[in-house]
Amino acid sequence: MKKVKIKGTGIYTPKKVVSNTDLEKIVETSDEWIFERTGIRNRRICSTEGGEWPSDMAYHATLDALKAANLEPNDIDFIVFASVTPDFKLPNTACILQQKLGITNKCAAIDIAAACSGFVYGVNMVTGLIKIGAIKNALVIGSEMLSREVNWKDRNSCILFGDGCGVAIIGENEDGDESDILSLHLGADGSGKEFFDQPIGGAVEPITETHLKEDAHYMQMKGKEMFKVATRTLAENAKLVLKKADKTLEDVDWLIPHQANVRIIETTGKMLGIPPEKVIINIDKYANTSAATVPIAMHEAIADGRIKRGDTLLLDAFGAGLTSGATLLKY
Ligand code: UT7
Repeated sequence: MKKVKIKGTGIYTPKKVVSNTDLEKIVETSDEWIFERTGIRNRRICSTEGGEWPSDMAYHATLDALKAANLEPNDIDFIVFASVTPDFKLPNTACILQQKLGITNKCAAIDIAAACSGFVYGVNMVTGLIKIGAIKNALVIGSEMLSREVNWKDRNSCILFGDGCGVAIIGENEDGDESDILSLHLGADGSGKEFFDQPIGGAVEPITETHLKEDAHYMQMKGKEMFKVATRTLAENAKLVLKKADKTLEDVDWLIPHQANVRIIETTGKMLGIPPEKVIINIDKYANTSAATVPIAMHEAIADGRIKRGDTLLLDAFGAGLTSGATLLKY
């Protein structure tokens, strides 16, 4: 089996910053309420004029990741684009990105819809292909423009989300160092599918004028139910990947959890017994960017020097579906 390495990472965060105070002008809320209940202060929102579509954000983030990995676009032989807000229904955004990057090697390009767990799903799926030598370098993306799907009149949900993108180039470790994916887990529990959904706008119920009038076509979430399952699942999955790799929490240098609510992260941390200083948190700046939270948090900690080569990272995600996944790796 080949060893698998994160060769480079990159992010793109939209230029427009929207603070909690800005939201006070749109819905009945307050900076205090949002910060206390969620840990969020700001979020980024994509331009609707163009230039910041999910594929554009991924394009910019990938250029940085390629540079860090010392690779060319044509070195990528698999693109996995995780998003619940793709550019279009067809073609998939992975193909759009392939073309934007000028990749001419006809590499495979797929979108996956695993909500907030999408990036971790992508990492874990390509790991198998790299391990058996089927591919050499995969580009895994979490890129979301949730601002399009959020009901800006609903204070229960609109305060929680933001836009952004994070990517990683994951490939065969040819450097002879210890970097590797040590263990992984993917899971889903469809019995909680109504906790976070957007039933209008698919094949079953196309959007009608009535839906538009009633704002029924937006994402909707049962926050309390999600909160409970999220903490339990994140803690369980973290333990699972540690057990699979015969490691303990002591071996983990950094926990990089999905950023949905700082209280979810803190509760999970307590359930696991991991010290807060080992947990990467940036929800205050970007809110919940779904599939993009884990790669953005990971990239920022790499870029500012907290995460170093040889560190053991635990990626831990949970989202609508309900999907979940975790990865234990040596960076
Ligand atoms: O990425 C997918 C995973 N996402 C999640 O798992 C999110 C999980 N859920 C959560 O993060 C939290 O449940 C929320 C942040 C969504 C809500 O926090 P909460 O502590 O569960 O608040 P709540 O829903 O119990 O609401 C408490 C009160 C309510 O008022 P009443 O009914 O007690 O009078 C709400 O109407 O706070 C009210 N409220 C607000 N007040 C000011 C709800 N949203 C707001 C708001 N500003 N934005």
